[in-house]
Amino acid sequence: MTVKRYCLILAVSSLLGWATPLLADSVQFDSVSGSIEQPLTDQAGDASKGRLLVLGRQSGLCILCHNGPFPEEHFQGNLAPELSQSASRLTAGQLRAHLVAPQWFNPTTIMPSYLSSDGLIRVSPQYQGKAILVAQDIEDIVAFLLTLKP
Ligand code: HEC
Repeated sequence: MTVKRYCLILAVSSLLGWATPLLADSVQFDSVSGSIEQPLTDQAGDASKGRLLVLGRQSGLCILCHNGPFPEEHFQGNLAPELSQSASRLTAGQLRAHLVAPQWFNPTTIMPSYLSSDGLIRVSPQYQGKAILVAQDIEDIVAFLLTLKP
């Protein structure tokens, strides 16, 4: 089977600045299934940390736009799909791809890439050129989203 692959080259050291470059030099994006099959780090994702990132108002801020089965959160977004429905439909690789390259799915999306500073506008000087999260955070979030599958 010939699977066409795009290579998203992530210049890790410049993106993450201070962070240890846990990320491989390139991320293989499978443009047939819209997924990044290979985990971004060697360490398995920690779903409990992922939950904190998804619900956190300081970092992931996912529920600014999304909503999900989080009864303790009174204010959740309605601009984006409900996360357990998305998780039930998507594979780990597809969930990872949505977090790393949301523009591949919708070029005019309002969802930011969490692993690249591309497309972010009006960024304060101290955050310019930096990604919102690091690779391990992405793996933690994927692990958490997978727990939402029925
Ligand atoms: C600024 C709003 C916004 C934020 C913040 C955001 N998203 Fe999204 N997300 C969207 C929108 C809108 C879509 C629907 C597709 C599109 O238009 O890009 C989407 C799509 C997705 C999808 C695919 C859904 C599907 O059913 O196909 C996943 C998974 C996802 N987001 C997860 C997340 C996670 C996890 C976070 C936090 C780390 C997050 N998003 C943060 C707006 C956002």
